[in-house]
Amino acid sequence: MPRFDYAPAPESRAIVDIRPSYGLFVGGAFVEGHGTPFKTVNPATEEVLAEVAEADAADVDRAVKAARTAYTRVWSRTSGRDRGKWLFRIARILQERSREFAVLETLDNGKPIKESRDVDVPLAAAHFFYHAGWADKLGYAGLGGSPADPPRPLGVVGQIIPWNFPLLMLAWKIAPALACGNTVVLKPAETTPLTALLFAEVCEQAGLPPGVVNIVTGAGPTGQALVEHPGVDKIAFTGSTEVGKLIARAVAGTRTRLTLELGGKAANIVYADAALDQAVEGIVDGIFFNQGHVCCAGSRLLVQESIHDDLVRRLQRRLATLRVGDPMDKNTDLGAINSAAQLEKIRELADAGEAEGANRWSPACELSSRGYWFPPTVFTGVAQSHRIAQEEVFGPVLSVLTFRTPAEAVAKANNTPYGLSAGIWSEKGSRVLWTADRLRAGVVWANTFNRFDPTSPFGGYKESGYGREGGRHGLAAYVASEVGA
Ligand code: NAI
Ligand code: MG
Repeated sequence: MPRFDYAPAPESRAIVDIRPSYGLFVGGAFVEGHGTPFKTVNPATEEVLAEVAEADAADVDRAVKAARTAYTRVWSRTSGRDRGKWLFRIARILQERSREFAVLETLDNGKPIKESRDVDVPLAAAHFFYHAGWADKLGYAGLGGSPADPPRPLGVVGQIIPWNFPLLMLAWKIAPALACGNTVVLKPAETTPLTALLFAEVCEQAGLPPGVVNIVTGAGPTGQALVEHPGVDKIAFTGSTEVGKLIARAVAGTRTRLTLELGGKAANIVYADAALDQAVEGIVDGIFFNQGHVCCAGSRLLVQESIHDDLVRRLQRRLATLRVGDPMDKNTDLGAINSAAQLEKIRELADAGEAEGANRWSPACELSSRGYWFPPTVFTGVAQSHRIAQEEVFGPVLSVLTFRTPAEAVAKANNTPYGLSAGIWSEKGSRVLWTADRLRAGVVWANTFNRFDPTSPFGGYKESGYGREGGRHGLAAYVASEVGA
């Protein structure tokens, strides 16, 4: 038991001004939606934060038309240098209003304020800064064209994002699209629309030409209307593999281009020679960051057999110090689960883990009776065939498996339909490189986990999707010609 307890250190919510209701952002103005408005709640308290318009197919059509008009009349004729100026302006406003964005993100999503403040918002601004720099240098990106005749944009891009990193996923989508000269219609997730709507205000504040960015809110049917709209040149989607497959089917045989960033079931491999206390920190960050609502979460811990008991003991000791609770408290490590539906899914999979014979462990922690909560959970004695070793839980649940040889570690790590990320912990560089070469995963971290940078491409193999976001590679998804990429 800790000798001292932490006093509450709540962040004030006074900086945000949440309106009772929100419309859609189309053609540079907030307009009414014609679907059935829905409520977004604070998952830590179940308090209703605001009512949000639902875009029906006709509203989506208006947004796509606004994006097309802005594309042909303004944005496709705007020089890269000027596009860059707008993107720099947006990046600076995000920094200036960072506290407001962090508080709003935490209220709407349930993630700890220290994460929205130190990770989501600064990285979102960094994505705009990074892509602002590319806007006038696309001719040098090795994607076709030349400095005098840079590669052409695609036109109107439809973008659909999930609820786990609402503002950050918006930045991953909008920044490269605009830098390359496209206009966008973005649909945020139905449980977390508020930072996207605040971003619409940032576009107004920056004086971005109307229609370059349009935000349509709603759930699956709104996303589907966007996917099926014939006026959209490209769809970029981040979310579940299930919906990704539906979208791939919907655009097959059309001229619409598609990039998909889907689920994952990452292996975090710890060799016996690893620095164990550092590995424990990486394991905790890998699976408990953002309540485990992370597509690249290190949800399968593969431990070399000889250190298994020692590592699990250290991990349990560390987990007993995690603070679970009020996301607005600056000391909180684990916040609320994003929705009742997600909580139900996590519970169901954790129960299946127990029923299939794995050993379940959680530290003692008190969970509020209001809101959606799940304790940090570790399963030991997990077999490859267990559902918790195969399916994406998307919650704070770690499955521990063992291996004896490096070849066995690689075989087990790759035994998944996914291939988004992986982690390797070892003192030996040669062993790290040997392992990384054999892992079928888009991103491999060595002696660290969950590091993100706008300059570094991110994306998957197999059922984790296709296409890359970030870096020079990410630009390729938003220009018409691609040479030697
Ligand atoms: P989802 O894939 O349904 O939601 C992602 C986005 O797609 C949301 O904006 C949603 O409104 C939209 N959408 C839903 N149906 C659509 C359709 N037919 N056409 C177009 N857009 C559509 O994910 P959901 O239901 O929120 O979560 C279910 C599971 O998916 C999670 O438990 C997790 O395992 C996984 N997931 C993975 C994510 C990732 O980043 N890899 C993100 C979110 C969920
Ligand atoms: Mg919400």
